[in-house]
Amino acid sequence: MTTRVGIEAFGFYVPHLYLSLDTLAERQGSDPAKFSRGIGQEKIALPAHDEDVVTLGAEAARPVIERCGTDGIDTLLFATESGVDQSKSAGIFAHALLGLPANCRNVELKQACYSATAALQLACGHVMRKPRARVLIIAADVARYDRGSSGEPTQGCGAVAMLVSAVPRIVEIEPVSGCYTEDIMDFWRPNYRRTPLVDGRFSALRYLHGLVRSWTDYQAGGGRPYGEFAQFCYHLPFSRMAEKGHGHLARQAGAEADMTRCRPGMVYSRQVGNCYAASLYLALISALENTRDDLAGRPVGLFSYGSGAVSEFFSAIVQPGYRDNLPADRHRKLLRARTEVTYETYLDLRDIPDPQDGGTALIRPAARGRYRLEKIDDHKRHYVDTGR
Ligand code: CAA
Repeated sequence: MTTRVGIEAFGFYVPHLYLSLDTLAERQGSDPAKFSRGIGQEKIALPAHDEDVVTLGAEAARPVIERCGTDGIDTLLFATESGVDQSKSAGIFAHALLGLPANCRNVELKQACYSATAALQLACGHVMRKPRARVLIIAADVARYDRGSSGEPTQGCGAVAMLVSAVPRIVEIEPVSGCYTEDIMDFWRPNYRRTPLVDGRFSALRYLHGLVRSWTDYQAGGGRPYGEFAQFCYHLPFSRMAEKGHGHLARQAGAEADMTRCRPGMVYSRQVGNCYAASLYLALISALENTRDDLAGRPVGLFSYGSGAVSEFFSAIVQPGYRDNLPADRHRKLLRARTEVTYETYLDLRDIPDPQDGGTALIRPAARGRYRLEKIDDHKRHYVDTGR
């Protein structure tokens, strides 16, 4: 019997604070339409001082664990480019907060915004070999750019958790995928920097190039023809980038670009901003929760891009009953129940606790979720489960 493998459960989390891009436009003296129409974004999700990729990731994973339990989870893959330690995986902190079994491997993966796709492919391979195993993937990032830079309106943060198993209740991942790697400097972050260095327009061109090359490789490997896909989900640094990608791919495939086949995937991202490793999977959740037509049995095309650069195009088949297995109401409520911050609060939130001398930084409670960073003391981060 062949093993089917894919995503059994999904969860996403976004913190309760955001900056409106209208506020940023006013302070920068830009036309708000440049952000709302030109790049296609509305809000930047912001972490409070006591939130980081560990707390966001654990929040995203908690409903998945509550729904599906921990049986068989023998691997936790944490995908991020904004990790909290150069050595220790953010996944070990999340593993403790979530009360996962100790007989579990745990590793952090990094390749800009691409790493969650590597995690997903590795997880599928593991489950194929060991069909009773389940793999928890957490993709979480905080996207911060320099103040006043062109990347500033594309900031954001968020986390997606996915449980990969041989019981793919939401989507089955198909084995064919197309990959493309090239050594370029379009977006990178040396170890001594908190914010990335970016050649923004070059990065957008390489994104389109990577899309064509990975699509071509996907086709060469026996992938589905363009016309079969019900929806396309793209890595979303900002939603206009995906619209451009969608048009570019259609031209490559000799087809008409039908924007209704990519817009449902952009709904959540417009409200959240870039969340790097989590962004493509936020797009997939958004497409599944915002496409009116029943997608059961239909293929979805997925394009992952991580600067530096790695691209991958692959496909997933939506499963019957997928809607019953998605917490869409929870996700919508999370997005609706947020608080807009002033520009001054936004500046204060950029000034994250950073006791490099090994002193103690006690962090004021602000997170609305269950997990928070309580303090940094003697260079160690202390997280708490508030039990909320
Ligand atoms: N009304 C409506 N539209 C307007 C406007 C107005 N008043 N003013 C400008 N626009 C339009 C422009 O015409 C342009 O549209 P087109 O691209 O269709 O021509 C769009 O708004 C953006 O304007 P600019 O190109 O002038 O914007 P910019 O140079 O200030 O910034 C950017 C764009 C370079 C992409 C910048 O957002 C950036 O550096 N972002 C970070 C890097 C990034 O996200 N790269 C994406 C690919 S790499 C990747 O995907 C990995 C990752 O996650 C980072």
